[in-house]
Amino acid sequence: MHNFEHTEPILRWAGGKRWLLPTIRKILNDTAVNNYHEPFLGGAAIFLGTPHLGRTFLADANSDLIEVYKCIRDDYEAVSKTLANHVNTAEHYYEVRGNVPESTRERAARFIFLNHTSYNGIYRVNLAGKYNVPYGRRKHLRIPTLETLKTLSCRLQDVSLKAEDFELCLDNIGPGDLVFLDPPYTVAHNSNGFVRYNQKLFSWEDQRRLSNLVDKIKKADSYYILSNAAHDSIAELFDKGDRLIVTKRKNAVGGLSSERGYASEFLFTNVGAV
Ligand SMILES: C[S@@+](CC[C@H](N)C(=O)[O-])C[C@H]1O[C@@H](n2cnc3c(N)ncnc32)[C@H](O)[C@@H]1O
Repeated sequence: MHNFEHTEPILRWAGGKRWLLPTIRKILNDTAVNNYHEPFLGGAAIFLGTPHLGRTFLADANSDLIEVYKCIRDDYEAVSKTLANHVNTAEHYYEVRGNVPESTRERAARFIFLNHTSYNGIYRVNLAGKYNVPYGRRKHLRIPTLETLKTLSCRLQDVSLKAEDFELCLDNIGPGDLVFLDPPYTVAHNSNGFVRYNQKLFSWEDQRRLSNLVDKIKKADSYYILSNAAHDSIAELFDKGDRLIVTKRKNAVGGLSSERGYASEFLFTNVGAV
């Protein structure tokens, strides 16, 4: 069994996969993998909960998010210092939300502050690209400490961080690599409002591109683990003759099929038996 080093995510992130870590660890078990790729990074729960496997390539289409990780990697002390200037009041929140600073460290601290004090962890911008999530009135904040940022910074040293579309990860993938894929969930034909909202972020056409990417990953003799919505259209699109594991999460918010407080999600993988 791998010796799993565990670092806490520093952000609240919609669709965060921390709860999936025990299953991912079981799947990986003793599988020897080379480099690690995570092109839908988000809150980075899986990268942070699994060991360093060769070189690491992380990416997300959200360039503000990637800037935060880069800034922590390169100067976590400056981010922490700037973060300490923020206070959890509605007045301060809206002032910070309304102004995007010039310096990267101030932008990183702003991102972390807004993420922790906003109504929910969802990163939502308006048509003009401005962050527009309301103030959360949250009493118990878990704003990352200097120590947490330092640990994250250590984990990110020598890691490739890119703001780019998921398809580009293929450029660096070689035999024996592991690619963890956790896209926003969309399905074909569903009246669920959550999915409709995500359609704008990740369309059915994107799911098709993702399916093609999985084919290419397999062709490159690499491993993949893909999480996705538990829906017939997804089962069909990603049926590659590999393993389909149905995971159940207690009281998940935004789960697509729920029964008695449980929501199901699919995991597809060509990594060996659980
Ligand atoms: C479900 S979240 C990932 C959550 C992450 N696994 C975690 O544990 O926090 C999906 C991520 O995909 C990103 N994303 C959406 N469209 C993308 C695209 N075309 N290419 C790369 N990333 C994309 C979003 O910005 C979001 O962070």
